[in-house]
Amino acid sequence: TDPALIRNFCIIAHIDHGKSTLADRMLQITGVVEDRQMRAQYLDRMDIERERGITIKSQAVRIPFTALDDKTYTLDLIDTPGHVDFTYEVSRSLAACEGAVLLVDAAQGIEAQTLANLYMALENDLTVIPVLNKIDLPAAQPEKYAEEIAGIIGCDPSDVLRVSAKTGQGVEELLNEIVNQIPAPVGDADAPARAMIFDSVYDTYRGVVTYVRVIDGKLSPRERIQMMSTRASHEILEIGVSSPEPTKAGGLGVGEVGYIITGVKDVRQSKVGDTITALNRPATEMLGGYQEPKPMVFSGLYPIEGTDYPVLRDALEKLQLNDAALVFEPETSAALGFGFRCGFLGLLHLEITRARLEREFNLDLISTAPNVIYRVDMEDGTEHVVTNPSEFPSGKIAAIYEPMVKATVLSPSDHIGQIMELCQERRGDLQGMDYLSEDRVEMRYTLPMAEIVFDFFDHLKSRTKGYASLDYEPTGEQQADLVKVDILLQGEAVDAFSAIVHKDKAYTYGVDMTKKLRELIPRQQFEVPIQAAIGARVIARENIRAIRKDVLAKCYGGDISRKRKLLEKQKEGKKRMKMVGRVEVPQEAFISALSTD
Ligand code: GTP
Repeated sequence: TDPALIRNFCIIAHIDHGKSTLADRMLQITGVVEDRQMRAQYLDRMDIERERGITIKSQAVRIPFTALDDKTYTLDLIDTPGHVDFTYEVSRSLAACEGAVLLVDAAQGIEAQTLANLYMALENDLTVIPVLNKIDLPAAQPEKYAEEIAGIIGCDPSDVLRVSAKTGQGVEELLNEIVNQIPAPVGDADAPARAMIFDSVYDTYRGVVTYVRVIDGKLSPRERIQMMSTRASHEILEIGVSSPEPTKAGGLGVGEVGYIITGVKDVRQSKVGDTITALNRPATEMLGGYQEPKPMVFSGLYPIEGTDYPVLRDALEKLQLNDAALVFEPETSAALGFGFRCGFLGLLHLEITRARLEREFNLDLISTAPNVIYRVDMEDGTEHVVTNPSEFPSGKIAAIYEPMVKATVLSPSDHIGQIMELCQERRGDLQGMDYLSEDRVEMRYTLPMAEIVFDFFDHLKSRTKGYASLDYEPTGEQQADLVKVDILLQGEAVDAFSAIVHKDKAYTYGVDMTKKLRELIPRQQFEVPIQAAIGARVIARENIRAIRKDVLAKCYGGDISRKRKLLEKQKEGKKRMKMVGRVEVPQEAFISALSTD
């Protein structure tokens, strides 16, 4: 394809603002997908995505479009993931494009993540086409939000296009604007091949399908290629484009977007952001921006039935084939048995993984409270990286560092007070505040990641009646006054409950946990103290009083079969008990104590 006739673009939008509907309408208007084949949301393939209404994996689709100048252009729509955990994948999708459609719900206005992705697009020098969607809605306020968008990107409000992805109104005009405004790709066709991987998906039948954007040179079938980050080489078995079904092609040239299949079985061998070059004539310089995926949030995952442990291991291995960011290693907990410590990009990534394990592999799981990574400097000069609170080093600590984030909150201005209060409770530092329009405000904070990964978003939503939106990105680490709080049963620490918390919050954590456990753990033959402690110092204590448990007391004499039944029942019950020292704890108690509500 002649690069002059190619337009590579993506759609930047908040969840529910209509990205998938718009993509579907584009496919339909251009005849790529026949009406009768058209099922809603062609681009979202994973069930979980559909169910939760979020786009996790980006994909590309080629749309041939005959513009007003009668020339037929190749539009490549690169779908971008929409959630804060997947910022890096978004950045690579943007890097594969020359332009972006900024799609904003005309009844809602712009949201924090959209704004963050917009800034990322502008930093990457993408041409941005602002579009208001859902203008068919009675609640739409296109004038108001056109002003807002114009103020943010510095254009005239009349330059903001208005469409209805649902009815198709304005979509053809938008396609023409994409052709007119977004620059054609430029690259050196004679240079050694360089292509950027912007997505990589495991397929049961075909192995890993790698989505690439060619920058220079050409990639051809049967050619040997090299991954520049690892120097590993593979043969291209198949090369093609999605239109939208995979369609073989004779090669991909400058500016083209498509997929390649090399037979590798694991997405970690074909990493997002990596540069592909030709083995016999390699490029010398990688394309910029490559990063290894880095887990930020850790949690222990345990099967409720101990016998499911091997199933869980196999399931995690399978998911990892398609998820380069998922890491795990075996871990044993006195309270929960055998499980895995898993690392995730963020809380949503954790939730999705957990939901898939439960649904696709039929597992019942319990997960420990998520924690971030801490760095601990000891007085003897050694350094520890802690991903599991129960492995927090003992001894003389010189300093503890925790990861920080830069957070942006967008909200109607009448909620400023509640937002400030929440951020203050979470040890946040206000960095700045701007009005986007008369009644909408952007607030910027730095916050400890540990304070937001858990339930911050839920609190933000409930305190602003659902109106605030949040985006954040990691910004290094900061020293903090943190302590490890242990929960002890009869003097024995229960590993699953150890937590690293700020000194000012240690007491509250200790009191809450000991109270909860006192209610959840049944009485034993002896008294059981429950304590919360920092090192050797006890900060909270509850007692479970002793009781003599005699299940047979209820049976008056004779009925032997009934007695046997009761004894058997008791034995059954015992199997679900975990021993912590001499204390019997029903597994349910651990599960309820670890659950958030
Ligand atoms: P994610 O895939 O979750 O990122 O969402 P999305 O941005 O792709 O949104 P989606 O296309 O799923 O649309 C969200 C909802 O808005 C759906 O119920 C659509 O039917 C509806 N919707 C999309 N565009 C329009 C529109 O132009 N008018 C109206 N009335 N509804 C629309």
